[in-house]
Amino acid sequence: MLKKALFVSALALSFGAASAASCEVQLEGTDAMTYIYNGKTVTKTTEIVVPASCKEFTMKLKHTGKMPAKTMGHNIVVAKASDIAGIVKDGAKAKDTDYLKPNDARVVAHSKMIGGGEETSVKFDVAKIKGGQFDFFCSYPAHQAKMRGKLVVK
Ligand code: CO
Repeated sequence: MLKKALFVSALALSFGAASAASCEVQLEGTDAMTYIYNGKTVTKTTEIVVPASCKEFTMKLKHTGKMPAKTMGHNIVVAKASDIAGIVKDGAKAKDTDYLKPNDARVVAHSKMIGGGEETSVKFDVAKIKGGQFDFFCSYPAHQAKMRGKLVVK
């Protein structure tokens, strides 16, 4: 009886997760200064599809490495591709605010910076990334050279 009840609730949970999955993605961050998405290393040409039907989109990040945020920090920052160089330049010395200039209006959304074994996420309104090329990247110094990909609304 209990087994059956557990099975039914597990089934309900898996259905719930499936219907929410389209407006949510899971990424990993590694000690090798990379993001992993769908089992593959993210590169500048990697596209993450953001369904236009989603009002909000959530990007989850799990740091699967062992290094601390101080030396191998990872976050997810969403911004217009053409703004990223400026965001990175202005955030270079903003160590206390995850290497982002406080209240930088060019940043659409960002998660906190995490280290090995930690998890975080960032959620944003899909309307904010419609029209123009928006990318996601890690704001830890020099990481965006390897930790960056594209968001494509469709
Ligand atoms: Co990083």
